[in-house]
Amino acid sequence: MNSSLLSRIEHAFVFAQQQVRGLTERDPNFYPLYTDGGRWRHEKPAWTRWCDGFLPGMMWIFYEETADPKWRELAESYSKTLEPRKDDREVHDLGFIFYHGTYRRWYEATVRHGVPDQTLKEVVIHAGRTLALRFHERAGCLRSFHGDDSDFIDIMMNVGIIFYAAVETKDKALLRLAHQHCLTTRRTLVRGDGSTSHEGIFDRETGEFLRQTTQQGYRGDSCWSRGLAWSLYGFGACYKLTNEPIYLETAQLNADYWLTHIPENGIAPWDFDAPEGGPLSRARVDTSASAIAAVGLFNLAEISPTAARRKAYLDCALRTIDSLSTNFLGESVDGWEGILRGGVYHIHKDLGVNESVMWGEFFFVEALQRALRVLSVAAV
Ligand code: GLY
Repeated sequence: MNSSLLSRIEHAFVFAQQQVRGLTERDPNFYPLYTDGGRWRHEKPAWTRWCDGFLPGMMWIFYEETADPKWRELAESYSKTLEPRKDDREVHDLGFIFYHGTYRRWYEATVRHGVPDQTLKEVVIHAGRTLALRFHERAGCLRSFHGDDSDFIDIMMNVGIIFYAAVETKDKALLRLAHQHCLTTRRTLVRGDGSTSHEGIFDRETGEFLRQTTQQGYRGDSCWSRGLAWSLYGFGACYKLTNEPIYLETAQLNADYWLTHIPENGIAPWDFDAPEGGPLSRARVDTSASAIAAVGLFNLAEISPTAARRKAYLDCALRTIDSLSTNFLGESVDGWEGILRGGVYHIHKDLGVNESVMWGEFFFVEALQRALRVLSVAAV
């Protein structure tokens, strides 16, 4: 079973490279966000400019796995263009762009080759400091792009770059602020059953927490599956960076919710509380949520203290990647330009629904990388 799983995953990884190569040849230097009818180039709006790091991020992963210098050349070129974004104060997504996607991976490539380039690390640190400027002292959290009174669960995927900057520069104020963001998010957006709210609203003046709400989920008290996946992955990643036990406990609580609510194939409904029918039906899946959660589960399978948990997380991550690779590859639809079908961007605005989405592509590729590593160790 594992050898055929390995071959399905190897096939998906080769297909992913073909699709990214196709995009760069067809439309050089274009950083798309989501497809429309399977095509990356269209006139629909972006809503927010948060995804540019994911395309070069995939190129870096392809380089990490294949050592093909062409991937490195492309990755460097697509990363370099983004450097000015290190001063972008309009988004809360600099961790996606510089930590998950571009300059951290570039810096680590130079370390692996024995020629660490500190100027690359400086870019990551700079971006982390820029993100920290979003901190709302009285609310105790980073403000989302949506407003001075708003925290998003998504920011748990970005706060890691502030921890990175704090540790690299031994900046205690930066470290305190990053911890504070995590603790406030834990207290206000993660519920007792491990589910999450997408957005928290705070009083702009006093910082008092007022309510849970949502932009992209079904409603304020529902569990938007991508938000839960951001939390599961994000808290686990923050634990890896800090060894703070509450972050691991939180990621495990999220994972418990995920594991007990997800169907056997690991493919998430777009919102766990969406109704049975109608235009917002829970029959609509979000494959990007499943790809993100799979990487989060691979992480937990390494860091959780008990063998039973590690096994449950690994089994679910592998089942999920198998389902994604078997049933959702773009190759099953003629002319589809993305890697992974079945993502959802913003269902209420009708943006990228049942399409390929750039973060879904990236985290799917990251999950494939993790699965390949796990399965090739197991095969030895
Ligand atoms: N707002 C980021 C996301 O769509 O998950």
